Amino acid sequence: MPGAGSLEVMVAEDLWKVYRLGQIDYPALRGVSFSVKKGEYIAIVGPSGSGKSTLLNLMGALDRPTKGKMMIDGVEISKLNDKKLAELRNRKLGFVFQTFNLLSYMSAAENVETPLIAAGVPPEERRRRSYALLEMVGLKGFERNRPSMLSGGQQQRVAIARALANEPQIILADEPTGNLDSKSSHEIIEILRRLNEEKGVTIVMVTHNLELTSYCDKTWFFRDGKIEREEVRNAK
Ligand SMILES: Nc1ncnc2c1ncn2[C@@H]1O[C@H](COP(=O)(O)OP(=O)(O)OP(=O)(O)O)[C@@H](O)[C@H]1O
Ligand SMILES: [Mg+2]
Repeated sequence: MPGAGSLEVMVAEDLWKVYRLGQIDYPALRGVSFSVKKGEYIAIVGPSGSGKSTLLNLMGALDRPTKGKMMIDGVEISKLNDKKLAELRNRKLGFVFQTFNLLSYMSAAENVETPLIAAGVPPEERRRRSYALLEMVGLKGFERNRPSMLSGGQQQRVAIARALANEPQIILADEPTGNLDSKSSHEIIEILRRLNEEKGVTIVMVTHNLELTSYCDKTWFFRDGKIEREEVRNAK
C-alpha cells in the first residue's frame, strides 16, 4: 500500500492554483511546498484572499492543483479520477467549515450519520456510533435536536462529530470558530486539541485568531498565495 506506515501524511511540492476570471488568470497559490507529519497540528493564518481556503481544498482532495504535486498518504491526487478522490476523502479526511454545513431537516444524530450511510454502515451501528460521537463532543441528550434547536457552538460540535464519523486520520478545519463567540470558540479548540493529543488525529486548521494557535505544533503565515513564514512550536 503506498504510504502505509509513512510519517508524512501530506506532502506538497510547488503547488500552484490558477483561477481563470474571464480573460485573466489569477494565481491564488504561487508555489507552495510543505510536509505534514502524522499527528501534527498545523495552524494557517493570513490575510483574507491570501489563498488559505484554496490550499485547504487541495489538502482535502476537493480540488486539483493547476501545477505541482499534492500527495495525501502517498497518493498524488492529480492522478485520481473524481470517484477515487471521493473515496479518498471518505476514508481519510474529515472536514469542518466556518458555516457548520449541517442539513437543517435532519437531527444532530442523523447529520453525524450521513458519512456512515455513504460508507455502508448498517443502521443500528450508525446510531450507536453517532450517539457515542455526540457524547464525546459534549452533546449527550441533544441527539434528536435539529440544527435550528442548537446554539452555534453546539452546531459546530455536531459538525466535528460528523467529521469524525469515519475515523479519519486527518481533520481539515476552515475557520471552525469564525462564527462563534469566544467561549464557544475555546470549547471547539479544546475538542480539537484533545483529538490531536489523545487520539493522534492530524489537524490542519485555518484561523483568523492568532490566540487560538497556541496548541498548534506549527503555524504557517500565508501571504499572496505562499507560505511566507513558518513558526515551529513543537517539532514532531
Ligand atoms: N473558485 C474561484 N474562482 C475564482 N477565484 C477564486 C476562487 N476561489 C478563490 N478565488 C480567489 O483566490 C484568492 C484566494 O482565495 P481564498 O478563498 O483561498 O482566500 P482565503 O485566504 O481563504 O481568504 P479568507 O480569509 O477571506 O477566507 C482570492 O483572491 C479569491 O478571490
Ligand atoms: Mg478562506
